[in-house]
Amino acid sequence: MIFQLLIVAILVLVVVYLKGVKNEQYWRKRGVVFYQRNKVVGIAWDYITQDRAFFEHFHDIYKKYPNEPAVGIGSVLKPAILLRDLTNIQHITSTEFNAFNHKGFEIIEEDTLANNIFLVNGRKWKLLRQSMSPLFTSSKLKLMYHTIDKSARDIVPYMRSNPKLMKGNALETVSTFCSAAMTAAVFGISANSIFESPFLKIIQNVVKPTFWLGLKFVLSINAPVLVRIFKIKFFSQAEKFFVGAIKNLLKSRVNEPIKRHDFADLCVSIQKNGMLKDEETGLEVDPTDELLAAQAFFFFTAGVHPTATAIYNTLLLLGQHPEALKRLHDEIDEAFDKNEGNMSFDVVAQLEYLDMVLNESMRLYPPVGYVLRECVSDSVLPVGNIKIEKGTTLFIPIFPVHRDEKYYPDPEVFDPERLYRDNKAKLNEKAFLPFGKGNRICIGARYATAQAKAGLVQLLRNFTVKTKVFGNDIKYKKDQIQVQLTNVDVEFIERKVKCYL
Ligand code: HEM
Repeated sequence: MIFQLLIVAILVLVVVYLKGVKNEQYWRKRGVVFYQRNKVVGIAWDYITQDRAFFEHFHDIYKKYPNEPAVGIGSVLKPAILLRDLTNIQHITSTEFNAFNHKGFEIIEEDTLANNIFLVNGRKWKLLRQSMSPLFTSSKLKLMYHTIDKSARDIVPYMRSNPKLMKGNALETVSTFCSAAMTAAVFGISANSIFESPFLKIIQNVVKPTFWLGLKFVLSINAPVLVRIFKIKFFSQAEKFFVGAIKNLLKSRVNEPIKRHDFADLCVSIQKNGMLKDEETGLEVDPTDELLAAQAFFFFTAGVHPTATAIYNTLLLLGQHPEALKRLHDEIDEAFDKNEGNMSFDVVAQLEYLDMVLNESMRLYPPVGYVLRECVSDSVLPVGNIKIEKGTTLFIPIFPVHRDEKYYPDPEVFDPERLYRDNKAKLNEKAFLPFGKGNRICIGARYATAQAKAGLVQLLRNFTVKTKVFGNDIKYKKDQIQVQLTNVDVEFIERKVKCYL
């Protein structure tokens, strides 16, 4: 028995060794340097076994090969490559979009809530993106802004009546605001902002980084065939709740004469128009309650997680930089006094320093650390003339690009001035990608920016912030996609300012 086990162990080691050699040769043949650690499973192994975020492993590789346009990395069932060059990134996100329109994650049709714009691909993605785009135009955003602003104004007395929200766990506090704003945008406004929403708990559980979620995630990128065989679902625990909520919402809205300009309004009109049709291919997609629930689920998740992270990181940085905090307080106070507290969309959009601070915070700590694509038809990356075969996974490193001194002098320094007018013009626009780039750029970028600004304006008008760092170095939460700091917190301290009702 021991002898047989030994033979099996030796065979496994030989197979693993040969697969590692094969992975390395694959990229060497294409003139691409190969990352030597874990030649078979690449960073998936490090992610599962270490207490670090996924993006941190990419950052290590990115820094290790400063002169390479791309780095091949180990992957089980398909080739994988980390892009470093911005022209190559532009190539796959825009120029040759049709060859790289796949998001790189494997999902199954039965995973109802995974059928959202972020995760679906090809023509179905195109139909969904087209049908949801009207919700994200500038004019729609202006119409919806008062709902965001209302939640931002309401969070202030809510915090005062719940003092524990002021004294730490600030990410939870800003998530509570974002959740109320998203509840209003997706499910319609009510007289009072809903801060104790069951939706918040549900989406917090869905993305909680557990061993199983990490494993599913790694399989979804590296071994899609296993996701199909084992019918792996990501969001089953939120399915019943979200589908049920959307069904009730649409039933109550279908005969309502008032236009509210929110997600539910759009869904009702989409369903009235019947099948979504792709003229070129003849593909038809039925806008069922389930499909619309999947979009609501993703919008809600994105409106809470990365948006709250962006607000939180900004507050955190302001707490560490008193001169920037003072300048922003002054800008906000001046606008409040000039407009008698009426901080409309147009007023907030004109706060130049707020814009610089928020963008510099998303440069230093982009809420999403990287994105990926899968090649759907053979192509060649222009820089390095790298042949990419159908099925290859390509990683786009957001955090590492934002920290590259080639694009940002003193990249570790929080310096909003680098985004001031002429200074900004000198930066490489391609190197700022907190919302991704190209045809699949974040559809909610403008919405998220408006929500983050509305929250920051009300919070900073009423409070000042104090940042606490526990330990010497910044630590990141072990997360699949997000960039979240763990050993820091922000305290809110009351300011004495004139109150406009
Ligand atoms: C600060 C907050 C946010 C950040 C940093 C962020 C970032 C991103 C990133 C990096 C992507 C991937 C882009 C790519 O693959 O090239 C993305 C996609 C997406 N985001 Fe956001 N996002 C935010 C907020 C939102 C909000 C509020 C919504 C909706 C209400 C939203 C909806 C989407 C959708 C639907 C996609 C998929 C787009 C597609 O594939 O066509 N995001 N976002």
